[in-house]
Amino acid sequence: MIKFTDDFLTGIDLIDNEHRQLISMLNEINDRMLDGADVRTEGMKLLNGLRDYAARHFADEESYMESISDPELAGQKKAHRAFVDRIEHMNFIGMNDETMTTAVLDLLDYMSRWLMHHILGSDTLIGKTVSPFAFTDKYKTGIELIDSEHQKLFDIMARVDALIHNDELYDRFDQIVGLINELNDYTHFHFNDEEKLMEEYHYSGLEAQKKAHRIFYDELDRIDLDQVDDDQEAYLEDLLKYLMNWLSGHILGMDKKIHDER
Ligand SMILES: [Fe+2]
Ligand SMILES: [Fe+2]
Ligand SMILES: [Fe+2]
Repeated sequence: MIKFTDDFLTGIDLIDNEHRQLISMLNEINDRMLDGADVRTEGMKLLNGLRDYAARHFADEESYMESISDPELAGQKKAHRAFVDRIEHMNFIGMNDETMTTAVLDLLDYMSRWLMHHILGSDTLIGKTVSPFAFTDKYKTGIELIDSEHQKLFDIMARVDALIHNDELYDRFDQIVGLINELNDYTHFHFNDEEKLMEEYHYSGLEAQKKAHRIFYDELDRIDLDQVDDDQEAYLEDLLKYLMNWLSGHILGMDKKIHDER
């Protein structure tokens, strides 16, 4: 028996209602089993109910997370798949009533525990984790042009990230190449603007900035598209993490100082 308390609330009505429905289904089957109801009927209700739930609810939850670019989406998809794998090939064929009773009670117990851990540990965090690609206030330099261009660089990287984790696109190579080219072009465009602006301000740190920008250009030039084709996910994940760390570190450590000498 699981009791749906406020601790289970994600604050998203659709998701909360579906969680509530599943928990009450599990509880009702559990009660009827204890009351000695027909194990075959209850067992089938449980399996069908779980399959139906997995198809409908996980899709709803994942598309909600996608709509808000929740960074935990990839992890959630993996967890949901584990749930689906557990029930997909399950059947009670060839079992006598006694073994089937044990199997149904075991499954109820497993699913109740899984669900409780998953809702409390993962689902309640939906919408509450800040994406590393979110252009938050701490990155603002106070110079409008630079801020809007930085925001655009963050957006491109967020799109690369979404593409890496989009399992439905089997071969993402062309799109990845396109995005990396876009990142390359826009980086040149932005560094040019930024350097021009610093020249106008007679900014004392211009040379150091140019040097830093050159390091980033080199890094972009070193991207090996053959590797992208080989092991897309691992290579791109490392690359993106590096680029993102570099850019955020550069903005916080260097670009934010430009404003002081305006
Ligand atoms: Fe979930
Ligand atoms: Fe910059
Ligand atoms: Fe810069």
